[in-house]
Amino acid sequence: MAPAIPPLPVSASGTSADQVALAVALQAGRTLRQRFGSPLRITPKGPRDLVTEVDSQVEQEVLDALRREFPSFGVMAEETAPTFPSQEWAWILDPLDGTRNFARGIPFFCVSLALAWRGMPVVGVIYDPIREEAFFAVEGRGAWLNGTPMRVSDRRDLASSIVGCDISTHDTLGLRTLALLERTFPQVMGGRTTGSAALGFAYAAAGRLDLYFHLRLRPWDVAAGLVLVQEAGGVALDFHGQLATLTSEGFVVGNTVLVHQFLSLVRGLLDG
Ligand code: IPD
Ligand code: CA
Ligand code: CA
Repeated sequence: MAPAIPPLPVSASGTSADQVALAVALQAGRTLRQRFGSPLRITPKGPRDLVTEVDSQVEQEVLDALRREFPSFGVMAEETAPTFPSQEWAWILDPLDGTRNFARGIPFFCVSLALAWRGMPVVGVIYDPIREEAFFAVEGRGAWLNGTPMRVSDRRDLASSIVGCDISTHDTLGLRTLALLERTFPQVMGGRTTGSAALGFAYAAAGRLDLYFHLRLRPWDVAAGLVLVQEAGGVALDFHGQLATLTSEGFVVGNTVLVHQFLSLVRGLLDG
């Protein structure tokens, strides 16, 4: 039997970890909003990838705040701490998801923060500072958008569904994403790519996208989104149909009926 998740820890200032996560993500979002549109130092990071000074600034601000409140917790963060920590409790942070949007003045990006216990995300916050939308979930308690409970879509057929995805930065996986879209597009109401996988998960959790998929994401892209989708009544599977975890490579999220329909539709396309 899986061990029971302990109660959420309380911080040095006496605040529950979920409320700390929410407050810290909102503060990070304020920094993103202030810096959006201002001149930026941009550094290439890899093929189709870049990092701005704001990614680093927000990461530092968030980690400082979290370390003040929970000095003994581990941290995994995209820009400065990209490996899994050994502590039972760990924060998982993407300070700016949608960096390329941010750098080009496209107002679609977010901060994504999760708290994990033994590698299992149990609190998730995804905050879109432009729309001032906080997607928040706590394992076993529910999921909310700005305080209102949210649910995944209840559509049962792909034909009436809007399917979101993002095109992997990796050459082969990017082309495979397009092949998946080519197979999917004739069967659905519409397709969307947004440039922020974390907001893709959040929109699926809120039922705005009926389904979202991606062929390769990292733990900081998905940690908060996994809690949101689960607590909003959905599932996150990998492309083999197994329950997705932080270390899965590909993800398909939405209600269980659509996720299985989608996996059947694309079966065989990713072989070889
Ligand atoms: C990226 C975004 C994008 C996804 C990439 C991610 P970043 O994160 O989520 O939508 O397709 O795979 O790396 O670099 O903006 O934090
Ligand atoms: Ca990301
Ligand atoms: Ca990022």
